[in-house]
Amino acid sequence: MTPEEILKEVAEQTRVCTRCPLHLSRKNAVPGVGTPNTQIMFIGEGPGFHENEQGLPFVGAAGNFLDELLSDAGFTREEVFITNVVKCRPPGNRDPEPEELNACKIYLERQIAAINPDVIVTLGRVSMGYFIDKGKISSIHGRDFWSHGRMVVAMYHPAAALHQPSLRSVVKEDFKKLPFLIDKAQAARQATAESQATSAKPQGEDTEDFDKPEQLSLF
Ligand code: URA
Repeated sequence: MTPEEILKEVAEQTRVCTRCPLHLSRKNAVPGVGTPNTQIMFIGEGPGFHENEQGLPFVGAAGNFLDELLSDAGFTREEVFITNVVKCRPPGNRDPEPEELNACKIYLERQIAAINPDVIVTLGRVSMGYFIDKGKISSIHGRDFWSHGRMVVAMYHPAAALHQPSLRSVVKEDFKKLPFLIDKAQAARQATAESQATSAKPQGEDTEDFDKPEQLSLF
């Protein structure tokens, strides 16, 4: 299957999914939007009221701000892929429960494998926690680390910056670093591929430590 076909199949599956109780209150599943031909994927927490109505991610006020942030990084929505860790709205916009995250994992993992982005950007605490098991967003936002052979950059959720105006310039500055971080991720992946071609022992192989915030590489 092509990446496009996989994303389409995942989207169809989420629309009829009954793997967790979130389907009971869902109006529309929100599988994600964008292109599989991208170096960067943005992953939020879960659909809110407007997203549940429209079946599209980040269409409310936080979505408008995300568009501005994407533009700060030199992207349009059409040039990236945007999704959430859960594809159905948690009632009252509560955080997704661990069982819900677990039930939805198959969809996110297929999307990541199909797109194979150089960089995953997590939007908010819940999405960050999916890839990092320790660390506070206030200390690791905008920094890059490696998880399962891929660069992950934790960002504040755009809605957090709307509620807390002092975060606005912080998150904007973090987004402006993304072109540099994509180059860095591509160079690292290229070096790993070359090393794998010439050596039995690949560089940058995943270790537990790569997931730990203490191991983050600052630039
Ligand atoms: N917040 C999210 O995390 N995701 C959305 O799609 C909308 C708001």
